[in-house]
Amino acid sequence: MKILKSSFILAAVLSVLMLTSCSNNNENKSENGSECQVQNSEVVSFDEVLMTRRSVRSYDASKTITEEEVRELLISTQEAPSWANQQPSKYYVAMSPEKVEAVANLVGERNKQNIAGAPVLIVSTFEKGKSGFFQGDPANEVGDGWGAYDNGLSNAYFILKARAKGFDTLIMGMRDSDALRTLFNIPENEAIMAVISLGYRADEPKQPKHRPLEEIALFF
Ligand SMILES: Cc1cc2nc3c(=O)[nH]c(=O)nc-3n(C[C@H](O)[C@H](O)[C@H](O)COP(=O)(O)O)c2cc1C
Repeated sequence: MKILKSSFILAAVLSVLMLTSCSNNNENKSENGSECQVQNSEVVSFDEVLMTRRSVRSYDASKTITEEEVRELLISTQEAPSWANQQPSKYYVAMSPEKVEAVANLVGERNKQNIAGAPVLIVSTFEKGKSGFFQGDPANEVGDGWGAYDNGLSNAYFILKARAKGFDTLIMGMRDSDALRTLFNIPENEAIMAVISLGYRADEPKQPKHRPLEEIALFF
């Protein structure tokens, strides 16, 4: 009976250790290679990420995000495709309460209210004259529009990775770009695009109405 009880306790301790090593490694296997359950948000399916990613306009102010967590999201943006691998996107990350407040003051009153409590605000830019350019000249009529295109793709990787990790975001096109340029000392050759809030949802956002597929996709 005593042996049975000790084996049970040992098994319980081992399984806890296995789960811990899984979640520390962020992988599906423990250090010794055996299968084990990963108890974090990264196991969600891609469809679930797509379906639950929403523009979040209400944040839980009690939750914080570490610089390491933000770095992981930014690293995922490096997997995004870009014109001739130009990688024109750049990110200015406000994490200190002072900088977050300063950026929040530059996205308009409505946005400011909606992002209250988001611990991180990120300004997204792209370097002009790279994507869509060949030897200094625009390769076609889109010009720097390709830089904006690449930047949007990069942002998409960011917001989807964020959702996969359990975070929430709001992309904001309403922002004072001149003031942001001064705040972060952003060079003139960078076009300032969106400000993205990063945090945890306080309420469940509603899925917006989508246009019927027939209206947006034509098959020939
Ligand atoms: C380029 C861009 C700019 C946006 N600017 C704002 C903004 O300033 N304020 C805001 O509340 N939402 C903004 N949004 C969010 C959109 O309103 C939102 O993506 C859209 O309504 C669809 O909702 P969903 O993201 O929940 O699917 C922006 C989205 C994009 C892609």
